[in-house]
Amino acid sequence: MDRCPETHVPPRAPEAPQNQRAGASGSCAGSGGPVVRVIGLRKTYPGVRPLEVLHGLDFTVEAGEFVAIVGQSGSGKSTLLNLIGALDRPTAGQVIIEGRDLSTMGDNDLAALRNCCIGFVFQFHHLLEDFTCLENALMPISIGRGEPEPEDVLRVTKMLRRVGLGERLGQLPRRLSGGERQRTAIVRALSNSPRLVLADEPTGNLDSRTSREVFSLMREMNRETKAAFLLITHDDRLAAQADRILRIADGYLTEEQPTGETS
Ligand SMILES: Nc1ncnc2c1ncn2[C@@H]1O[C@H](COP(=O)(O)OP(=O)(O)OP(=O)(O)O)[C@@H](O)[C@H]1O
Ligand SMILES: [Mg+2]
Repeated sequence: MDRCPETHVPPRAPEAPQNQRAGASGSCAGSGGPVVRVIGLRKTYPGVRPLEVLHGLDFTVEAGEFVAIVGQSGSGKSTLLNLIGALDRPTAGQVIIEGRDLSTMGDNDLAALRNCCIGFVFQFHHLLEDFTCLENALMPISIGRGEPEPEDVLRVTKMLRRVGLGERLGQLPRRLSGGERQRTAIVRALSNSPRLVLADEPTGNLDSRTSREVFSLMREMNRETKAAFLLITHDDRLAAQADRILRIADGYLTEEQPTGETS
């Protein structure tokens, strides 16, 4: 039965800012062009000795592509993902998401864009401890539009069932296993039907078997939803199964051919 018990509906979702409600400038209908376009992207962290981490990157990501970002620790992978996700501003260059140049947008429009167009998955799940599995998964909808509609609850419940969490809908995060929390975080990232999912080492905290399962799940969701995925990983075996591999080294980006190996 797909009907979700009413007790699972978020009772105290945070109030959505006026400019993030449905119909605001953050709506993400799809531009028809690349989902991500990065042009001459540079990032320097200020300090006594300023550190230029990214020296000018150029690449695009098309709808439905699953792209692995690899590179040594400290090479700038998270820096790049944070710039694409509008969590940080570049020193120079442009990030264009669904045809919208982030450098021309104010903080409110960026927040709305993040909510509607982009799903985030991090190494640490960042689930809200006082909210159930289902409430957490619905959170982008609750924040963006206020109380979720019954069809949202139904759709997200189906997604949670799809990833094996049908029996865990009303469970608080502390009662979920690491893999279950991360699966919840993946559904949360996809619950608003984003065009782009940014995942920063989402399997970095999991054992190798759970890590493979979570990766397969993201790959399946990528094929089903046609959302573009940008995934940072230190695991070469996982990167080998991506459509494309982008390697960051010495502040520059090179493209590598995935081998497709699964073991
Ligand atoms: N807010 C910051 N201020 C100053 N330097 C920073 C800041 N964030 C990151 N750095 C530096 O920028 C470089 C790139 O960091 P980043 O977190 O992007 O690396 P990474 O490739 O994600 O590494 P890891 O694989 O360890 O997560 C590092 O040398 C880091 O110390
Ligand atoms: Mg990192």
